[in-house]
Amino acid sequence: MLSESSAAVVAATLPAVQANGEAITDRFYQRMFDAHPELLNIFNRSNQATGQQKAALAAAVVAYAEQLTGGSSVPWGPILDRIAHKHVSLGITATQYTIVGRHLMAAVGEVLGEAVTPEVAAAWDEVYWLLACELIAREARLYTEAGVPENGSVWRDWRVTGKVRETADVVSFTLVPADGGPVPGFTPGQYTSVAVDLDGGRGQQIRQYSLSNRPGGDHWRITVKRVRGVDGGPDGMVSTFLHERVEVGDTLRLSPPFGEVSAVPGEGPLVLVSAGIGLTPAMAALEHLAVTEPERPVVLVHADRAGTAHAMRDDLPRLQEKLPNLRMRLWYEDVTDSQLLGLTAEVASGRVDPELIPVNPDAHVHLCGPVPFMNIVRGGLLRRGVPSERIAYEVFGPGMLRDERV
Ligand SMILES: Cc1cc2nc3c(=O)[nH]c(=O)nc-3n(C[C@H](O)[C@H](O)[C@H](O)COP(=O)(O)OP(=O)(O)OC[C@H]3O[C@@H](n4cnc5c(N)ncnc54)[C@H](O)[C@@H]3O)c2cc1C
Ligand code: HEM
Repeated sequence: MLSESSAAVVAATLPAVQANGEAITDRFYQRMFDAHPELLNIFNRSNQATGQQKAALAAAVVAYAEQLTGGSSVPWGPILDRIAHKHVSLGITATQYTIVGRHLMAAVGEVLGEAVTPEVAAAWDEVYWLLACELIAREARLYTEAGVPENGSVWRDWRVTGKVRETADVVSFTLVPADGGPVPGFTPGQYTSVAVDLDGGRGQQIRQYSLSNRPGGDHWRITVKRVRGVDGGPDGMVSTFLHERVEVGDTLRLSPPFGEVSAVPGEGPLVLVSAGIGLTPAMAALEHLAVTEPERPVVLVHADRAGTAHAMRDDLPRLQEKLPNLRMRLWYEDVTDSQLLGLTAEVASGRVDPELIPVNPDAHVHLCGPVPFMNIVRGGLLRRGVPSERIAYEVFGPGMLRDERV
């Protein structure tokens, strides 16, 4: 709880902080990276360049202040979970909260100038640390559960044992711990962070990849789409590196499995809806259910540009054999190549029509794909009476607060 005096000060200064959010964020990162250039290796440089993620941290502090002062009723539990899982997958430490807090407060002071009296600074500091403490506590728990020792590293070397071309733009890597140790279990839907040292002295970059095989096996699999630059933008740093530079026998640094969104939620009928590379959690779910709950009624809805772009499609006939109650509904924008190669599925042309998704009233739904796609599908399912708490979704990018309301 924010103290009463601080709450009044925060409420009074909230509009000024909100109005200057972008300037505060810019100054915050400039200051922090000048003082701590090593943090450039932890933050996603492409998100910094495109501005995508930049706002998320400061925006979260402001949204939290709104909540504390009674200005909003967004449920914070899921938001804190999402941030904490992302943080621990990056190895964020409690000490780094002091660095971030110092530079964030200094940026507020620089941008708002004299308006930031000692009283105002203290009130915002209180907000920051209330939020930081919530995150630090959750993150400590997640580190413990994942077996990361106190002050230990999340990174472990994994050896690439297979590299399989799935489509023109997608490859899968199979991986085993380089030290021959046990392969950690995970929940379908969880991801691992992959840290790579880019060539040309560009330093380290970290990205998340959902595990696309079943838990409990003797290896992990990740399935990576190569991101090409559009409108003159550069090609994706890490996906291009993984496609071009990483081969069987190489080692990669991976985090333990994290991620709060299960792709096998609840019990009973399950609907997995994906588009493009967003099918990786669904593939982990199907592989898992084929072993653990083969009778579970599952509908797989997948949208892709074409059958030839549909990664891991060759795995589906085998899964269909093992899962007698699996029904598939595919949408290909281009259906000229939609030979189904032993697959029993309904195939339509064009984009997913949420009205045509077969949904049992008791079903749990998992969505993964581009945010506009998920907005359309979720909106359609909500209109058809599926309650929001039964629609889980994963964003393959910075899940800013607005994404909590897709
Ligand atoms: C939880 C989670 C799970 C995920 N699971 C998967 C998965 O299973 N499979 C998968 O393939 N991906 C997955 N992703 C996405 C993955 O983490 C990466 O975001 C993706 O591979 C792109 O990373 P990159 O380094 O190749 O691209 P980046 O270098 O991050 O580039 C991203 C975009 O930014 C643009 N950009 C960069 N700099 C500039 C600039 N200066 N000007 C203009 N544009 C610019 C690039 O052109 C590109 O379009 C997941 C993400 C999350 C968060
Ligand atoms: C109260 C303090 C903090 C808040 C409110 C906060 C908030 C956030 C949010 C909202 C995200 C986006 C989550 C997502 O992708 O879904 C994020 C990601 C991230 N945070 Fe934090 N954060 C805080 C502290 C820190 C600290 C101390 C560090 C370490 C220096 C840090 C490093 C990162 C990084 C590296 C990412 C991934 C972003 C990227 O793509 O570059 N954060 N944080």
